[in-house]
Amino acid sequence: MRRFFSLVLPGIILFSLAANVWAAPQDKPAAQPSKQAEKATSKDPALVLGTAWYPEQWPEARWEQDLALMQAAGMNMVRVGEFAWSRMEPQEGQFDFGWLDRAIELAAKHGIKTVLGTPTAAPPAWLTYKYPDTLATWDNRRRATHGNRAQYCFTSQRYLEFARRIAEEMAKRYGHNPNVIGWQIDNEYGPVSYDEGTRRDFQEYLKARYKTLDALNEHWATYYWSQTYDNWNEIPFGPGNPGLMLEWKRFVSETFRKYQHNQVEVIRANADPRQFITHNFMGFNGNFDHYIMSKELDFASWDNYIGQGHTDFLWQGQVHDLTRGFKRKNFWVMETQPGSVNWAGINNALNKGEVRQMAWTDVGHGADAVGYWQWRSAPGGQEQYHGSLVGTDGNPRPVYEEAAQLGKEFAKVGDALRGTTPTPQTAILFDYDSRWAIEFQKHSKDFDPVGYLHTFYRPLRQLTQDVDIVNPSAPLSQYKLVVAPALNVMPEGTAQHLAEYVNNGGHLVIGARTGMKDEYNALLPSRQPGTILSKLLGGDVVEFYALEKPVSVAGQFGQGEARNWAEMLETTSPEAEVLLKYGKSNGWLDNKPAVISRKIGKGRITYVGAQLSEDVMANLAQWMMDDSGVKPALGPVPNGVEVSRRAGEGKEVFILVNSTVTPQTIVLPRPMRELLKDAAAATSLTLAAGDVGVLVSAVN
Ligand code: GLA
Repeated sequence: MRRFFSLVLPGIILFSLAANVWAAPQDKPAAQPSKQAEKATSKDPALVLGTAWYPEQWPEARWEQDLALMQAAGMNMVRVGEFAWSRMEPQEGQFDFGWLDRAIELAAKHGIKTVLGTPTAAPPAWLTYKYPDTLATWDNRRRATHGNRAQYCFTSQRYLEFARRIAEEMAKRYGHNPNVIGWQIDNEYGPVSYDEGTRRDFQEYLKARYKTLDALNEHWATYYWSQTYDNWNEIPFGPGNPGLMLEWKRFVSETFRKYQHNQVEVIRANADPRQFITHNFMGFNGNFDHYIMSKELDFASWDNYIGQGHTDFLWQGQVHDLTRGFKRKNFWVMETQPGSVNWAGINNALNKGEVRQMAWTDVGHGADAVGYWQWRSAPGGQEQYHGSLVGTDGNPRPVYEEAAQLGKEFAKVGDALRGTTPTPQTAILFDYDSRWAIEFQKHSKDFDPVGYLHTFYRPLRQLTQDVDIVNPSAPLSQYKLVVAPALNVMPEGTAQHLAEYVNNGGHLVIGARTGMKDEYNALLPSRQPGTILSKLLGGDVVEFYALEKPVSVAGQFGQGEARNWAEMLETTSPEAEVLLKYGKSNGWLDNKPAVISRKIGKGRITYVGAQLSEDVMANLAQWMMDDSGVKPALGPVPNGVEVSRRAGEGKEVFILVNSTVTPQTIVLPRPMRELLKDAAAATSLTLAAGDVGVLVSAVN
């Protein structure tokens, strides 16, 4: 995926309504409304459009013109401040917020509300030079230097104090400002530090978790290679022992959680509850556990960049659904590319129309805001070449038009989406422990846990048009179908939770590499998928094989290939059926089961022991749907047309994006009105090449 240690500055914006209270993203109907949702009024724009704006980089005389251009594009939000520490606190303890006061006020005059970013991803030079202990030490053991960003040491108490102070000063000043709608803490948390202080903190973390060295030595099997620790201070950062590596990732998650909490606490203490707090995550970035980090946020946000290439709604959709799953509620796309980026191999521009398509895909998956990064490139700085809405001459670039079209469209149909959220019947389970455990020891360089998840997501999303991605600990009873692609780390509680789902009539499909490790990343003393699920399945994994070349498979789901990974399965109960078998291969796998399944009352458990080719996965996905009773959200659509559904407040809204280069006609299951073009209710919709449709109907 993309780099997280990039070199520039972000921002975001919105549209012009006079409301002074803004809604946080919608909870799913069953969930408790947040304080923000309770306070939402119908005056709040239901869909937010905005941009990252850096007033500190420009003469004040220019601001008015920029804001007028934003307003003309129908924007109603700017994200401001997230790298402006040296302007807010030019010298230690000396604060200057006059410029920010004026920027917020001027934006409001143009109907634009502000999201304030705390500036802690970019510490000022006075801070790091006077207190070098606030700087990170990289994994080559060299200390970071000034001139980039995110160079702080995430465990430094001194840095935390400075970060808290600037966040508190901001919150005291803007916590009741009607034109400030919310907060973004820091920016794309990322780099960790390998300094001695962090190492001591890690050791303290381990002490609190394991209590005794005996317990730690046992769980990590440290008699292997004489790793046995006699003293907590002997424990290194890693890499090495799988138990140690998993705990390091958990420690990093816990440390960033505290880092974030440090600022959240002072903002909450000083701000109106209507002001939300979020953070702009980076999709499937694996630096830390995003479920943990999202807990105390009002909603999650992410930065949706494509880099080199073009839109793929099934890939972007997967990341949206992941982000929605962090808190199981709607989210924001805090940043997205206005055409091109500056950090890919080839920074090609998106084709005309793709920027608009991307935004509607965002909304379809539950984004309530889309923010462009950025408004205008600073004359200097590392991101001079990045896409922006306004050019070096201060005039709109061609892509501005597309943002302006979105401004009109969001204003026009936003109300129809108010109070709606995706409500899928299918869930895919994803957890960080399992992903990390596999990444530490991939066994095949070609087996990528996120890519493996995508082999399930892609056909399922295409057929069902609606998928959640959630933590395995999430409540599952609302789903007809639950898929666990590679749940490698399987604590007993998780196995019980899954078994309960099946026993209550749920349809569970488990993928390869599931149920192999305990919570300490030690091998379970049982065959995969572990005692509880093997018993339920009436089968298990006899052996696993990393594949040098594909192996043929055939059976109920047609013919195709197993790639990268194949497990030899067996049935141990006469009630378990074999649904797919391997063809001729290494002798061991020949004619052995690749997929087995067992019906349990109204439920079913199925084990898929391989990474399967697209043809087989498409059939398997169709079978999963038919067997579990999942219906497509809308119905069959031509290839290349994305369907998303948001429901709530007695209505259903379908967002259709035609990503093909020809017109496409979609037959609708009942008469629906298309809102963007104000069409009368009809039972079919024709979308021009690259066009978007927003359909509404009352819930049947
Ligand atoms: C990230 C950052 C922004 C900017 C963009 C460029 O998302 O948050 O500050 O650097 O990348 O793509």
